[in-house]
Amino acid sequence: MSTTDAGPLRREAVPAAFDVGASAYDRLVGANPGYHAHLRLSARRMRLPGDGRGLRLLDAGCGTGASTAALLAAAPHAEIVALDASGQMLAQARAKPWPSSVRFVHAKVEDLAEAGVHGPFDGILAAYLIRNLADPDGQLRALHDLLRPGGTLAVHEYSVRDSLKAQLMWHTVAWSVIIPFGRAATGDATLYRYLWRSVDGFDGVRRFRRRLREAGFTGVHSETMTGWQRDVVHTFLATRPQDTT
Ligand SMILES: C[S@@+](CC[C@H](N)C(=O)[O-])C[C@H]1O[C@@H](n2cnc3c(N)ncnc32)[C@H](O)[C@@H]1O
Repeated sequence: MSTTDAGPLRREAVPAAFDVGASAYDRLVGANPGYHAHLRLSARRMRLPGDGRGLRLLDAGCGTGASTAALLAAAPHAEIVALDASGQMLAQARAKPWPSSVRFVHAKVEDLAEAGVHGPFDGILAAYLIRNLADPDGQLRALHDLLRPGGTLAVHEYSVRDSLKAQLMWHTVAWSVIIPFGRAATGDATLYRYLWRSVDGFDGVRRFRRRLREAGFTGVHSETMTGWQRDVVHTFLATRPQDTT
């Protein structure tokens, strides 16, 4: 995966850019039809048993807590650790009401152990995170190792490369809605132009599924969404095999 050519914003600077956009984030994604419903769909697709009773879950790159809320809806009795590298995004998340079973951690996903977050987890949701990482393959392997054998990773992510129709849809939505509205809401379009370019350069569905298998996962498959996000946003599901340690 290319770690360059994602516009003037380097991937290492992405969390700081989210600090700038944090106060407008919920307003902007709330105007995106399907945003929250699709996160909940990805969490349900993890098929977490027993309403999450006895399970430990990780929301990697939780942002303002939209994906955390989706995990909580799918597994209301689970213990959830939600982490993000952006202090301002986390401040928005922490300001919301949560049960005591949800804990927020300010850390880069690359520095989980140093932040005192250890596995094993029964399930991990990474929503709109992997595309932003400097070393996605290394982090997919690290997420694999954080899962207990049999545990599920769900990557909720844009992937348009395999479909010309999806690419056209993405360009249209990005340039007619996301970039102008993002600029109007925050006074700066850097993050939104980065979003457009990073999605444009990200793996196609087949390439990303292969990347998951190369990271050690089995049972890799993906399902898309409804609405304008059909073939644009996907849930990639993958399992840590039972026979690895
Ligand atoms: C587009 S937001 C998604 C937030 C949330 N998952 C959602 O679905 O609404 C991506 C989040 O990933 C975080 N992020 C980016 N790189 C990260 C890293 N290396 N470690 C942890 N979080 C990171 C950003 O700070 C941002 O809050």
